[in-house]
Amino acid sequence: MNTQHQQRYILAFPEMDEQHRYLYSLFDALENETQVTDPCRTASLLKELERYLNFHFTCEEHLMRLYNAPDFAVHQSDHEAAAARFIRFTDDFEQGRLNPAALKIFLTGWLMEHSQAIDSGYVEWISELRKNLHNGISGNGVSCMP
Ligand SMILES: [Fe+2]
Ligand SMILES: [Fe+2]
Repeated sequence: MNTQHQQRYILAFPEMDEQHRYLYSLFDALENETQVTDPCRTASLLKELERYLNFHFTCEEHLMRLYNAPDFAVHQSDHEAAAARFIRFTDDFEQGRLNPAALKIFLTGWLMEHSQAIDSGYVEWISELRKNLHNGISGNGVSCMP
């Protein structure tokens, strides 16, 4: 594991850490250049990023709803803001003026900050609930878990 990976925030929540890890691998695959040198590969990467970001955000939002986790609206709006910014980069690509290094820096920085500041909230909530279930205590003030 290199220094960059060590700085990446790990939630200690395996189902989502795996998805974050795959996202970082896609970010790493973007060119470190200010201009695209391989349009074909970049187009494929952007498509996969669009799919997987959508998949990841949907997973987390679905998980939060299922567990009735707090701060759903704040979390969802941060996802939407990142998705909107990502779409602007894909527009740049279509117009032949994408800066892949800037996209890489944006996505990596956003995920590190978002996972530490925001994803950590549902992790704490769900982990507590699961821990209580295993200890025979009903979770998060709910008197009887279904
Ligand atoms: Fe996440
Ligand atoms: Fe998130």
